[in-house]
Amino acid sequence: MNFASDNVTGASPEILAAIAAANRGHAMPYGADEITRRLEQRFAEIFEHEVAVFPVATGTAANALALACLAPVYGAIYCHEEAHIATDECGAPEFFTGGGKLVTCPGEHGKLTPETLAPRIAGAGVVHNVQPAAISITQETEAGTVYHPAEVTAVSALARRHGLALHMDGARFANAVASLGCAPAEVTWRAGVEALSFGATKNGALAAEAVVFFDPERAATLGYRRKRAGHLLSKQRFVAAQLEAYLEGDLWLRNARHANAMAALLGSGLAALPGARLLHPVEGNEVFVALSEHAIERLAAEGFGFYRWGEAPVLRLVTAFDTRQETVESFLHVAQEALGTAPPP
Ligand SMILES: Cc1ncc(COP(=O)(O)O)c(C=O)c1O
Repeated sequence: MNFASDNVTGASPEILAAIAAANRGHAMPYGADEITRRLEQRFAEIFEHEVAVFPVATGTAANALALACLAPVYGAIYCHEEAHIATDECGAPEFFTGGGKLVTCPGEHGKLTPETLAPRIAGAGVVHNVQPAAISITQETEAGTVYHPAEVTAVSALARRHGLALHMDGARFANAVASLGCAPAEVTWRAGVEALSFGATKNGALAAEAVVFFDPERAATLGYRRKRAGHLLSKQRFVAAQLEAYLEGDLWLRNARHANAMAALLGSGLAALPGARLLHPVEGNEVFVALSEHAIERLAAEGFGFYRWGEAPVLRLVTAFDTRQETVESFLHVAQEALGTAPPP
């Protein structure tokens, strides 16, 4: 009954089983184990490209460490004004870059475009200004929308014109790929992405993310940075085992397809209710909806969990790999009843 986030969930049974299997016997520490060794090959197959892969335990670490490789201490990193790196990471990107500055840009439905970015990219060569270094986009976005490969390519073309690196925060990358139905390569390196924070925790892992670099040379310092950040786990095989199981048999896409289907059901159901208004297209596993205060209170009283989004009566509803259709239907039923009832005087 909890739509607050996709990390209110537990872990997929396949991932727990992989952790249990990795628990047998001994393995060399700090990533020198067999599972970690296999992982890089697996990622290379999935992305159809040579990669450097660095497992970490949180998405914040993945983002901050990736950006630290892409931007100098005096660098500017351009991102959406609602980007997780700008709003929810307690200054980690600035801290791990050693002082880099996030420059936020507006953009409809959570997306950056060349048009919104271009006016912000300034100050190159001016000693008083931070130096343009990187762009970071979120896939799926914080508004629950998804960048199409052509949109990523347009942003990367602008990045190239200014000599900037392109990073993708893929905390919900699986939901985006499942929604697009394209090859992972199409929306990453072929579209000009150099570094990807590949998320797994929200979509079935227990605690596992990976920094993926498509040019391993650009990640030359990442191993040291990860150790310094305290994210080189001595028993890294347990993180690697989660990621391996996540990729095995397309579990990552199967989980994401289910989450997306539940969001589509929720979104279309709400859109059909008089008095409910969707704020963004539902393309992944998040629904943003404006409702009456009365309806929000009724839904909370019925035991549904969710976050209110901003000051207005707006909810963010997030579905996950284990969201049940009955839960979505019962949410819609209560919302319909509440919207059809006059609020108490
Ligand atoms: C877009 C996005 N990026 C990154 C993260 C990483 O978060 P955490 O450090 O909690 O794993 C989140 C989690 O909410 C997110 O929504």
